[in-house]
Amino acid sequence: MKRLAILGSTGSIGRQTLEVVRCFPDEFEVVVLCAGRNIELLKSQVEEFRPTYFCQTGEEGGRMGGARHIPPQEAVRLPQVDIVVAAMAGSVGMGSTIAALQAGKKVALANKEPIVMAGELLMQAAAENGAEILPVDSEPSAIWQCMQGETTPARKLILTASGGAFRDRTWESLRDVTPAEALRHPTWQMGHKITVDSATLMNKAFEVVESRWLFGMPFERIEVVVHRQSIIHSMVEFEDGSVKAQMGPPDMRFPIQYALFHPDRRANGNLPKFDPVKIGSLTFEAMKPSLYPCFELAMDYARRGGTWPAVLAGADEAAVALFLDGKVRFTDLPDVVSKTLGKHTADKSPGLEDVIHAASWAFEQTLKDWRAI
Ligand SMILES: NC(=O)c1ccc[n+]([C@@H]2O[C@H](COP(=O)([O-])OP(=O)(O)OC[C@H]3O[C@@H](n4cnc5c(N)ncnc54)[C@H](OP(=O)(O)O)[C@@H]3O)[C@@H](O)[C@H]2O)c1
Repeated sequence: MKRLAILGSTGSIGRQTLEVVRCFPDEFEVVVLCAGRNIELLKSQVEEFRPTYFCQTGEEGGRMGGARHIPPQEAVRLPQVDIVVAAMAGSVGMGSTIAALQAGKKVALANKEPIVMAGELLMQAAAENGAEILPVDSEPSAIWQCMQGETTPARKLILTASGGAFRDRTWESLRDVTPAEALRHPTWQMGHKITVDSATLMNKAFEVVESRWLFGMPFERIEVVVHRQSIIHSMVEFEDGSVKAQMGPPDMRFPIQYALFHPDRRANGNLPKFDPVKIGSLTFEAMKPSLYPCFELAMDYARRGGTWPAVLAGADEAAVALFLDGKVRFTDLPDVVSKTLGKHTADKSPGLEDVIHAASWAFEQTLKDWRAI
């Protein structure tokens, strides 16, 4: 029996994690459910999964059904938790992710922003405390799966990108696109922030950073290729030139289940079947830099290290919120992020507090600069 703390249980990843749990009632026990504002859904999850604890933004104590309230950073340290599923959206997940790693837990990591903000510090915390990061994001999960059983280091990682909602448009034509249009992802059903980040390819830049840290691969040996069908989730090239690809239907329950059962695999009749004939063909295209200015911007600052990636993550979080709120245009997004980066004085070797401070400064500064416009 694996005992789980699910952070972000009401979100897209959280709900799909619970769908996997539902399929294996004898294999998992949910000890903690943690959410933000969706109280109704959290209540019904508490009723169904009967965790010992719950956490919820703004709650200081009390009970929900039979569950007792607990702050997320305490929840992840509980001795009765084996795996922490880190599935909050954005930088808010940093505190609980680092606390889980410091407590030596297995962390099924979907929430990519903390590793973008402070990859080196997170990997260090995991190594020092015997914690394990189990990638859930589909591209890092694919790379992880391709690496199984290999004894020589990989030569190159090739991340696939669907190209997002506007892959057949030109940048100039995107001036008046609405949040609703940006939220129509061609192949994946996801939360709002990651879907907008997929349309700008900021999300892909974040995955490059995530993969750089998870697999110790230098940036110059990580490539991105546009693959419209989202069937190949990523590829790894080895020393002899052989390339392994991991593929399957675009459904996050696959990488979630893989992380939860790792190193084993389990049959799950509720997951969609892979049908190569129905898929027909798999295509690969070079990414068009002119359509994705956020990608190059993000990579430029991610490569600089220090507090830059945290500022990038904080500014992007605010930029996406401003766009969804109708305060800035889609085509303003690179300028919104870039303006905040331009105001930052970097710390080259920050500690965790410096990183958290840099991200929250960037978030607030971005809102301040653009909200009134
Ligand atoms: N969705 C995907 O397919 C996918 C794929 C790969 C990676 N990821 C990554 O996984 C993470 C989650 O993505 P998502 O798409 O599942 O996001 P989402 O649907 O927006 O869900 C976010 C979750 O975080 C919770 N939350 C937000 N603020 C919180 C707070 N202050 N305290 C506690 N909980 C809080 C939300 O609670 P309420 O809803 O109750 O407010 C919700 O449960 C992101 O980092 C994303 O990049 C997602």
